[in-house]
Amino acid sequence: MKFFVDTADTKDIADLAATGLIDGVTTNPSLIAKSGRPFADVIAEICALTPGPVSAEVVATDYDGMIKEARKLAKIASNVTVKLPLTLDGLKACKTLTGEGTQVNVTLCFSANQALLAAKAGATFISPFIGRLDDIHLDGMDLIHEIRQIYDNYLFDTEILAASIRTPNHVKLCALAGADVMTAPPAVIKSLVNHPLTDKGLEIFLADAKKAGIKV
Ligand code: E4P
Repeated sequence: MKFFVDTADTKDIADLAATGLIDGVTTNPSLIAKSGRPFADVIAEICALTPGPVSAEVVATDYDGMIKEARKLAKIASNVTVKLPLTLDGLKACKTLTGEGTQVNVTLCFSANQALLAAKAGATFISPFIGRLDDIHLDGMDLIHEIRQIYDNYLFDTEILAASIRTPNHVKLCALAGADVMTAPPAVIKSLVNHPLTDKGLEIFLADAKKAGIKV
């Protein structure tokens, strides 16, 4: 499973990219706004930090506007993936842009039928939002299972990019469900390494090594 980091904080991205565990980055207008920096500058800087796909979202809602913004975004760097909302205009724009060879991430997916439409529109990635479904007392993971089955039934090559990941358990369940990619905030990705028995075991090993005077 590929790991994307969901942030527009370039310091966090640089830290995680240095681990070699990150395959790409996703941003959205809320994350860009939080960075407090100009949109194009942030995206260009992120694209230089990782060779993987970097999702940059349009803010237009009509087809012509989305195409215009998408072409502008795609010019920033060769690894920009244009992020489009799951609307009819968004799907129409997805078809046009992927037909021209631009990578597209169709975002704000909350149903299996929406994911089916995105695959038919040639989306490179579909982003089902797990946490936001959990927030309204649905099981976000059911959606990942449904999309996996539909895409496998028809051999769609659109990648399932599980988004709105809030916990380490979400990551594990997405991996078990066969999501191709997951995107999560830096803190969630960093927390995956934690286990109290690892800490306790290391403490004991180091204490024994010190007692015995072991030097490597
Ligand atoms: C993904 O592309 C989105 O930016 C993100 O995962 C949304 O997460 P949230 O629901 O926690 O805001």
